[in-house]
Amino acid sequence: MSTSKPMALVTGGASGMGLATVERLARDGFSVAMVDRVRELAEREAGRLREWGLDVQVRVVDLTDEAAVRAMVQALPPLTALVNNAGVFDERKFTEVSSDDFRRAYEINLIAAATLTQEVASRMPDGGRIVNIASRAYLGARNHPHYVASKAAIVGYTRACAMELAPRGILVNAIAPGLIETPLLRALTPERLAAQLALQPTGKAGRPEDIAQAVSFLVSPQTGFITGQVLFVDGGKSLGGSGA
Ligand SMILES: NC(=O)c1ccc[n+]([C@@H]2O[C@H](COP(=O)([O-])OP(=O)(O)OC[C@H]3O[C@@H](n4cnc5c(N)ncnc54)[C@H](O)[C@@H]3O)[C@@H](O)[C@H]2O)c1
Repeated sequence: MSTSKPMALVTGGASGMGLATVERLARDGFSVAMVDRVRELAEREAGRLREWGLDVQVRVVDLTDEAAVRAMVQALPPLTALVNNAGVFDERKFTEVSSDDFRRAYEINLIAAATLTQEVASRMPDGGRIVNIASRAYLGARNHPHYVASKAAIVGYTRACAMELAPRGILVNAIAPGLIETPLLRALTPERLAAQLALQPTGKAGRPEDIAQAVSFLVSPQTGFITGQVLFVDGGKSLGGSGA
């Protein structure tokens, strides 16, 4: 593994916006650790990126396994950038969502990110960057209250971390994506997807590269005075209404 380059770690890096972010940060000059629980997918995608000369390493970890996460970080060089992107999404009616649904959503969307952040931040050089992928849904959405609550929680955690780490010049921000074309959207029925698209002021979903671009901006050394913020990358959906 190259040690001359700054190192970044992207969770959920084998798919969707995580994969686009791995590629983007590698093109920006980072040595990137792609962390995911799906070995075959991660190896295949990382191999494809390496064929283009990009510096990408795979770490296969289930991020809800706290001991494995801490061991993985201790075996890596200190990280200049951390992107907590891995997340799970499913739809449940408000009247049917269970306490286990809430626990599953919180376990990966909040607690896994917090564990990893704590371990990484303890060795991160001053001036490092942390980006958490939240969701526009944290403002409110129907049919997934457990997901909405977990994403509101990661926004709160982002603000807490920004306060804690500001004295070391470590900047912590969140991105709130709107509808983005990734495999995660398979959790929506065609009818629900059409209803979501109808609410997009731009009339279309975003691409994983739109999120990667925003991450690249927030981890850049040129972006030195933004912390504790939520950047909406959602084609205007957070403006409210359909524009009609
Ligand atoms: N796609 C959207 O429209 C959308 C909108 C708003 C927010 N988000 C958020 O963006 C993030 C990325 O979503 P995506 O759409 O690219 O999803 P995706 O399903 O394409 O990718 C998620 C990746 O995370 C990995 N992952 C999940 N749980 C894991 C675990 N316990 N350990 C290790 N890896 C794990 C999966 O294996 C997968 O590769 C998520 O946090 C999601 O909630 C997505």
